[in-house]
Amino acid sequence: MTWTRQLRYVFMAFLLMVRSPMTYHYLSSYHAPTGLHWDKISGKSSSSNPPLSSLQQCQSSDYPNTSYELANATFVMLIRNSDLDGTISSIRALEDRFNSKFGYPYVLLNNEPFTDEFKRRVSVLIRSEVHFGLIPKEHWSQPDWIDEENAAKARKQMVATNVKYGGSVSYRNMCRFNSGFFYRHELLQKYKWYWRVEPNVKFYCDINDDPFRYMEENQKVYGFTITVYEISATIRSLWSTVTDFIENHPEYIAADNAMGFISDNNGKTYNRCHFWSNFEIADMDFWRGEAYTAFFEHLDSKGGFYYERWGDAPVHSIAAALFLRRDQVHFFEEIGYQHDDWGHCPLPDDIWEKGRCSCSQKGSFDYDPSSCKPRWDKFMNSQ
Ligand SMILES: *[C@@H]1O[C@H](CO)[C@@H](O)[C@H](O)[C@H]1NC(C)=O
Ligand SMILES: *[C@@H]1O[C@H](CO)[C@@H](O)[C@H](O)[C@H]1NC(C)=O
Repeated sequence: MTWTRQLRYVFMAFLLMVRSPMTYHYLSSYHAPTGLHWDKISGKSSSSNPPLSSLQQCQSSDYPNTSYELANATFVMLIRNSDLDGTISSIRALEDRFNSKFGYPYVLLNNEPFTDEFKRRVSVLIRSEVHFGLIPKEHWSQPDWIDEENAAKARKQMVATNVKYGGSVSYRNMCRFNSGFFYRHELLQKYKWYWRVEPNVKFYCDINDDPFRYMEENQKVYGFTITVYEISATIRSLWSTVTDFIENHPEYIAADNAMGFISDNNGKTYNRCHFWSNFEIADMDFWRGEAYTAFFEHLDSKGGFYYERWGDAPVHSIAAALFLRRDQVHFFEEIGYQHDDWGHCPLPDDIWEKGRCSCSQKGSFDYDPSSCKPRWDKFMNSQ
């Protein structure tokens, strides 16, 4: 009896010690090498609320690693102020698993101004540069020439048939923005590569090798982790619009392209496979280039972003499949990633172990019946 009570006393004393402010300060200063960072944590800063710009200047002498050459790259997040918690959790995971070792910048875009609270809560997590940008109205609205009566009819019908986001105009604005405008934003002009990140995603594995540099060094243009089938109700006329474009512009179609991945009959019909674009690591100069610019303008002029609900995922994927060589498209096996219900966990044991992944390989979406990954494998192993 007395013995267990004593043990309990010792344990409680230990808890108190661990939780005491002194221990906390000691631990924080030990882990954070820079003065400002330490001051912020321990509350010893002379100005209790330093301006954001000074937070961003806060860099320890060994960060970023100056002898490592970063790629011309940035993270891109499209978010609303109400996504704060989900944004924090995505950035926290990305920093832990990858970016704290590298220090790539972030560009956060919103169709409304970010609140000060949002900027403050996000900036504190990131030691590299963070830019907060506003999306111009003309990149985020239904164009005047769209016949609103037809568009409204389409939305009503999709709501009646339970199509996800079928009734939403802002979802359509987002799909159109991600298809044809994000890479034109002024804050992204100075970058070539981007990694698209959404709120509430998970990164399951350590990413020790720089994916941007991998893309650059291996002449890749578009990278993905998950590939799925699109909902047919959202893209009724997309493929006929694409085939029109192909007929008028055969010059843009790459030799050794990935048409065989997205069509089972050499282009007659679309099998609805697409790369899940909430994760993308890709080259913005591809979207900025002549082929994709003409392609996007052609699609946009048909109004399908509003008369139907064309997603940026099939639009990007079809372009990547047609205008790139298949070896310019890359599957990132080593990036364990989760968005909503679906996630990719590296299946090869050596990769899973090296990444110290926290996901179950059995739960990986790759060979789920709704995944297009088996088609991708088969296609890439053919010829
Ligand atoms: C810095 O980067 C160089 C070049 O990639 C590497 O060899 C070195 O180990 C890195 N140093 C640290 C402290 O990470
Ligand atoms: C980065 O890429 C962009 C887009 O290609 C280019 O305009 C810019 O000059 C590049 N910056 C550097 C430092 O190479």
